[in-house]
Amino acid sequence: MPRSAFNAAYLPYLTASQRVQIFYGGAGSGKSVFLAARALLDAMTGRNTLVVRQVARTLRASCFAEVQKSVARFGLGDWFQVSRSEMSLTCRHNGAQLLFLGLDDVEKVKSLTPGRGALTDIWVEEATETAYTDVKQLEKRLRGISPHKKRLTLSFNPVSRAHWIYRTYFSDFKEDAGLLTTPHLLILRTTYKDNRFLSPDDRAGMENEADPYFRQVYTLGEWGLQAGGILTRFEEADLSGLPRVKARLRLGLDFGYARAPAAYLLAMVEPGEGSVYVLEGRYLRGLSNQALARHLIPVAQGLPVYCDSAEPKSIAALR
Ligand SMILES: Nc1ncnc2c1ncn2[C@@H]1O[C@H](COP(=O)(O)OP(=O)(O)O)[C@@H](O)[C@H]1O
Ligand SMILES: [Mg+2]
Repeated sequence: MPRSAFNAAYLPYLTASQRVQIFYGGAGSGKSVFLAARALLDAMTGRNTLVVRQVARTLRASCFAEVQKSVARFGLGDWFQVSRSEMSLTCRHNGAQLLFLGLDDVEKVKSLTPGRGALTDIWVEEATETAYTDVKQLEKRLRGISPHKKRLTLSFNPVSRAHWIYRTYFSDFKEDAGLLTTPHLLILRTTYKDNRFLSPDDRAGMENEADPYFRQVYTLGEWGLQAGGILTRFEEADLSGLPRVKARLRLGLDFGYARAPAAYLLAMVEPGEGSVYVLEGRYLRGLSNQALARHLIPVAQGLPVYCDSAEPKSIAALR
C-alpha cells in the first residue's frame, strides 16, 4: 500500500504490537478509516480481528462499511470474500477473517470464533458506549496459539473524564504529549488537524463549533468535563417546598483538594418515579479533613456519608 493512502499520524502504528491500543480524540480525525484499513491489511498477514460495537445496526453502517471501502480503495476485491448476511470478510489466500459483532446480538456473541486460527485482535469502536465488564469479557477471547501478538484496540471520542476508560488506562498519559507508548500500552490522540482527507467544509464545521462541550470533545479531542456530557436529562427547579423524607436522603462525598476539589451532594431518591432530587451540593477547595467534617456535619444531620473509596485514610479521619 502506498504511504500516501494513510494519514501520517497513524503510519507508525500500522504494526504496533502493544496489548492495549487506544486511538482517541476529536471527530473526523481519521481513527475509524485507519483502523479499518489496518484490520484489513492485518488479515492478509493471518490475523483474525473481531470488530465490536455496542449496537449491531450501527456497526453495519460504520465499521463494516468502512472496511469494504478499504477493500475497494486498495483494490483488494480478489483477496476478500464478503458476507453481508454474516457481516464478515474472509481472506481467500489464508482464511483469516474480520468478524463484526454488535454486543446486543446475544446469540452471535456466544458462538463467534474465526474459521482458522485464534482470534488475535479485538477492535472496539466507539468504546465509550461499551461497559467495562463487556470489554473485559471480550478480552478473555484473545487466547489460543498464534504467531501474532494479541491486541485489544479501543477507539472513541473522549466524552467524559468520569468514564471507566479514563480511569483504567490514562493514569500515565500526558495530555500535552498526546502520545503514550509503553511495552504494553499505546495511546494516541488525534484531531481533525491530523486528517488531511477532510473536506474544507468539514474542517470549517469543526473550527466553528461554538458549544464549549462539543468543541472540547469533538474539535479539540480533549476529555470532556462538563455535566452536559454525562447527565443530559435534568432540569433546574425550586425544591425548597419539597418535603424531605429522611429515609430517602443520600449524602455522597468525593475527595479532592486543590485543582480537583472535594465535592458533596445531598440528594433525595424517589424510586417510584425514578427521579433523583439534588437538594444541595458544593465544591470545597483546599480543606483539611477536619474542615471538611465541619462542613458536612450540619448537612448530614446524622445521615451516613457515602465516600469515594479511594481514600480510606480520609474516611477514617472523618469518622
Ligand atoms: N486514509 C484516508 N483516506 C481517505 N479518506 C480518509 C482517510 N482517513 C480519513 N478519511 C476521510 O475522513 C473522514 C473522517 O475520518 P474517520 O476515520 O471517520 O474519523 P474518526 O473516526 O476519527 O471520526 C472519513 O469519512 C473519510 O472521508
Ligand atoms: Mg470514527
